[in-house]
Amino acid sequence: MAELSLDLRHEPKERAYAQVHAVMLNTLSGIDDDIAGMATLSALVHHAFGHLWTGFYRVVAPERLLIGPYQGTPGCLEIAFGRGVCGTAAAERRTVVVPDVSRFPGHISCDARARSEIVVPVFDPNHSLIAVFDIDSARQAAFDQQDANGLERILRWFAGDGRG
Ligand code: SME
Repeated sequence: MAELSLDLRHEPKERAYAQVHAVMLNTLSGIDDDIAGMATLSALVHHAFGHLWTGFYRVVAPERLLIGPYQGTPGCLEIAFGRGVCGTAAAERRTVVVPDVSRFPGHISCDARARSEIVVPVFDPNHSLIAVFDIDSARQAAFDQQDANGLERILRWFAGDGRG
């Protein structure tokens, strides 16, 4: 097993995400399983960047998200499409970056320390939405377009990119 503890907090974001991507592809080589991918990516990203909460909500029924693999303190279990940041990203099938969660109407607070958040939709090879990837930071405005780009690229693994 390769060394998996990355510390990318002081790396430029583009390089940091490229490293996460490379380690993820290497770790998941020969593995064709969504939950294994979600668990691996949550652990890698969470510890490499020192986030507060990092994980997936899965689409388990029409318009309904249920907690998936994650790292951090216990998250809320169910989120309806259209509710909170996760439900908004799911309903609109787009990445949502929230620099200040106190200014996002309907934000669902799972940890009082959270200051900013990014939620990225996850698609399967048929372009169906299967999950959202949610990250909370204790820092204000921790996420920007570079995070969106880096994460969207990595999450294409679930659509088949570099998988198998
Ligand atoms: N803040 C999210 C809820 C999930 S927790 O952050 C883990 C939201 O508003 O959808």
